[in-house]
Amino acid sequence: MIIAVDGPAASGKGTIARSLARHYGLPYLDTGLLYRAVAENVRRMELNPEIEADAVAACDFEDALLDDPVLRTDDVGKMASIASVHPLVRAALFHRQRRFANQPGGAVLDGRDIGTVIAPEADAKLFVRATPTIRAKRRHAELRDNGSSVSLDKVLADIRARDLRDSTRSAAPLVAANDAALLDTSFLSIEASLQRAIELVDRQV
Ligand code: C5P
Repeated sequence: MIIAVDGPAASGKGTIARSLARHYGLPYLDTGLLYRAVAENVRRMELNPEIEADAVAACDFEDALLDDPVLRTDDVGKMASIASVHPLVRAALFHRQRRFANQPGGAVLDGRDIGTVIAPEADAKLFVRATPTIRAKRRHAELRDNGSSVSLDKVLADIRARDLRDSTRSAAPLVAANDAALLDTSFLSIEASLQRAIELVDRQV
């Protein structure tokens, strides 16, 4: 069984995908981490993520980089959104994601284009969303808990900029697959979101 979970930043898709993987006993891949690793590698190599050839050169990163906590920072997320616009970067990461999706028994993958490009044949597809303001409040609380003093307005502006870039790029834009079930987490607790996600998957398989 392949489960595709897509959605914008801070929608809750990561939490939902991880918990679906536990529930169904499937391996899980956070595909955003691959793009984040490219972005961090671009920075380490002192290259420019806006230049496609630079970003492609950074796709050959060491696997150990995927465990580096720096990948989780907002700065790296923003750079990942810039590097992931390039079709050749997406192509360089395609086979790794396909292999993961195709392993015997199946897998859960989350990202932006899993249901549309990476695994259009997925048995279950969820598109997770929440209003930009609610996503910004969640991300702001998380950053504050980690000691950051960034303002809510700045977090909201960053989220809007990332949404715009991710959904208007020509290569694999952030868009719900036609056959994806929509899950709006704006007014749901984490527990209620997880329960709803399982119901929506069970209904599709
Ligand atoms: O999901 P996450 O915030 O970790 O993703 C970071 C960035 O990587 C996104 O803003 C998006 O531009 C890019 N990405 C992508 N396709 C994916 C996963 C992430 O383009 N499947």
